[in-house]
Amino acid sequence: MCGIVGYIGEKQAAPFLLDGMSKLEYRGYDSAGIAIFERGKIRIEKCVGRLDALKQKLASNLPEGTVGIGHTRWATHGRPSDRNAHPHANSNGDFVVVHNGIIENYLVLKEALVEKGHQFLSETDSEVVAHLLEENYDGDFEETVKKVLRMIEGSYSLVFLCAQEPNKIICTKKDNPLVIGLGQGENFIASDIPAIIAKTRRTYIMNDGEIATVTKDSVWVQDINGTPISKKVFEVNWNAEAAEKGGFEHFMLKEIYEQPKALRDTMTGRVTKDGKRIDFSELNWTAEEFADINKIFIVACGTSYHAGMLGKYYFEQLARVPVEVDIASEFRYRSPIIDSNCLTIIVSQSGETSDTLAALKEARRLGSRTLAITNVVGSSIAREADQVVYTYAGPEIAVASTKAYTTQLIVMLMLAIYVGEIKATLPEEKALSLVQGLKAVPEQIHTLLENIEQLKVFATQYGNSQDAFYLGRSLDYAVALEGALKMKEISYIHAEAYAAGELKHGTLALIVEGVPVIALATQDDVYDKTISNIQEVKARDAVVIAIALEGDDSIGKYVDHVIFVPRADKYLTPLLAVLPLQLLAYYAALTRGCDVDKPRNLAKSVTVE
Ligand code: M6R
Repeated sequence: MCGIVGYIGEKQAAPFLLDGMSKLEYRGYDSAGIAIFERGKIRIEKCVGRLDALKQKLASNLPEGTVGIGHTRWATHGRPSDRNAHPHANSNGDFVVVHNGIIENYLVLKEALVEKGHQFLSETDSEVVAHLLEENYDGDFEETVKKVLRMIEGSYSLVFLCAQEPNKIICTKKDNPLVIGLGQGENFIASDIPAIIAKTRRTYIMNDGEIATVTKDSVWVQDINGTPISKKVFEVNWNAEAAEKGGFEHFMLKEIYEQPKALRDTMTGRVTKDGKRIDFSELNWTAEEFADINKIFIVACGTSYHAGMLGKYYFEQLARVPVEVDIASEFRYRSPIIDSNCLTIIVSQSGETSDTLAALKEARRLGSRTLAITNVVGSSIAREADQVVYTYAGPEIAVASTKAYTTQLIVMLMLAIYVGEIKATLPEEKALSLVQGLKAVPEQIHTLLENIEQLKVFATQYGNSQDAFYLGRSLDYAVALEGALKMKEISYIHAEAYAAGELKHGTLALIVEGVPVIALATQDDVYDKTISNIQEVKARDAVVIAIALEGDDSIGKYVDHVIFVPRADKYLTPLLAVLPLQLLAYYAALTRGCDVDKPRNLAKSVTVE
């Protein structure tokens, strides 16, 4: 991953570049740099560390100029350091590049260039591109870029400057995101919309293989053969405030609190006017086509994978379609048995996750129908799939996913109800009560969010633990996995989730006095079994915090603490039960002094394999 920005216009480039990079820091934050045309030369300034380090470095000496590019890095090739920070240049600094992705054949290219006398300054794969530009430049910047693109393999968004042609920036992409923001007498380039939304809502979403020449007054797009491409303007329908913290201390907390709205927005237009049924007429599949589906694969990574695990329960139990859930990086290499009666549902907040995108392509290659559930309009996954259902969570900036998860759940539940009705596997009254229940969820979450003092206390009490265990059965198990991931990624507590019944097959050996165990007990059909498992850990002196349904008067007897969530249908309960887990992780991370929005070693969207 990494965040890229570019500016060309009449104003000073540096303020936009630095501000835009701050909006993209979620994509990487181990070093940062900018390159600006200053008095006829390209001046590069970069350093290891967060963007703030670069800002401090430049505080009294900001590069001056109206054309520039910038980059915030998540290291792949070459450790975080000043030298490995982008932008990269050839030896005389005439060709400068920022890159998001991986140049897979860089070693071969680099060896050949070194033999020709090129001197490399960094250990990155990206630097090779600047040297290739120099080696192949024949007085025509566009043609040189095309030549270089024919040589490199891998995934990339690339933005180039050439000292000989100072009135243009060239950019291109393959398997990594890139947008161009259209202004008046100025244009902007970025990896993602938050970087440009304060300047313009009019954008071109770049497709793979497109090469754009951007000047202050024009954007000209062509393919590698020189065929001009006419782009449609994509109007972004959210505003700059959506990408700001809005008074919250962290994006993660803001996004947790945005869940009621995100869920309402995601349901809007997908319930019939009489409020009784789910309506997915936005999908142009006929009822027969849905009825033909005899197997579903749900493929995703991380939190989206955990949402997919719940999707399995929804589709199997409500629509009676067998479901396999796969981690995308496994699915793409495991030769799954797929035919045209299979539906592969690809779940991805960003719509850009490299493994998930590759899994989607693999499913298509094997003949599956494909449906993407994603939050980012026009993302690679949205464009590649046969059908798209958008979650309307709004921009999710914090690395830890929260509102994207709950909106993914609600979409899968609604789809399962919809397919269940088409296949007549779901009785009408059950469908109706689920739809009524769905509509109540945003308000129930709102109530939960108003009562979080107890969670803050637990986070202080147990936030310094080394380990934590999460237990649950059935749907609760899937939620437990998500709770443990949240805890791991932002608080660095070693947190593991187990199917509660599995504990005695090994994990029980890890339960010692005082270790916190978060036990989910919201599923009536397995409640007694879960209580037995709770007793097993209590007998080993664990401290048990239960997540239970309001009105459960007996659970208090078995556990140390209880967090109650509103009573709801079993399929809706995960939407509520995950809230305390998100908040527990958040406040535990605060207790430990962790950087909640930018956890170590991670970045928001994983666009490399
Ligand atoms: O954008 P995606 O949903 O494809 O991202 C998948 C994972 O990288 C993501 O969910 C990750 O696990 C989150 N940081 C978890 O909070």
